[in-house]
Amino acid sequence: MALATTPSSAAAQASNTVDQRTLVDRRASFSYGDNFAPVWTPLSPEFSCAANSVSLLMPYIEPYFVKSVRHFLPELEGELADTTRAYLKQELQHHVAHREFNDQIASQYRGTARLERMMRRTYGWLHTNRSAHFNLAFAASSETIAYSAARWAAERRTELFTNADPVAATLFLWHLGEEVEHKSAAFDVFKAVGVSKPRYLASMLLSMVLLMFFVAAGTTLMLWHERRLFHPVAHIRLWRWAIPFAFEVLSNMAMSTLSSHHPTDFADPSFYELWLREYDPETGTLPLWNARA
Ligand SMILES: [Fe+2]
Ligand SMILES: [Fe+2]
Repeated sequence: MALATTPSSAAAQASNTVDQRTLVDRRASFSYGDNFAPVWTPLSPEFSCAANSVSLLMPYIEPYFVKSVRHFLPELEGELADTTRAYLKQELQHHVAHREFNDQIASQYRGTARLERMMRRTYGWLHTNRSAHFNLAFAASSETIAYSAARWAAERRTELFTNADPVAATLFLWHLGEEVEHKSAAFDVFKAVGVSKPRYLASMLLSMVLLMFFVAAGTTLMLWHERRLFHPVAHIRLWRWAIPFAFEVLSNMAMSTLSSHHPTDFADPSFYELWLREYDPETGTLPLWNARA
């Protein structure tokens, strides 16, 4: 059976700031110098540790999303199939780029290999042992979390990325921008397949718990290497970011469980859309983020 595009409400359509049919396959490339510093946000080293920990997850969690959504691709048709293929290409680009970035991180922090093994086993176990419907719900609900992270970061981009390494900052902002761009893609497949809302809720809670666990573990490891684990300022900063982040994610998670919800109901930060327009397909590059204090 082939599934067509899910109809969404007129209000949702009206508030949509991105045409989901135009998800762009940006082959962005990033190159790090020999002296790349894993603390690439020198004004707030704790943010580098947390962001690096999120990056470590990407080569494990995003292939899981890709496999979970691609499983249903033969059942899709028309615009929904086209958008889903474009979504899968974007996620593929993300985890390839983060793999290269993570090689830089792993070469400088002992202990990351063990953490990455846990990540690989966790998402591999989910893929093998949970149903195809659960895995699809996991991908769709995790996109809500990724979208929330993008919105949180957009509001704080000056604080977080001022004086940051331009290549690393561009990698993260490019990824976050595409998370906003494809916020509806996995959800539309989830709706078209007809997976139950309780499954969506269960998978979203699990996704959030795993994210918090792995980011906390990675951040602790990197703070220890940076000799900042027992630095009170480091913890004050992390909580100052974590509390509004939790508020952003939890409110979006709650909204996304409503039966009338569609991700196009979320208001997008305009920053990413404007910035991604600057992508140059000839060179596969975006203008480097270069905010200086
Ligand atoms: Fe992604
Ligand atoms: Fe995504």
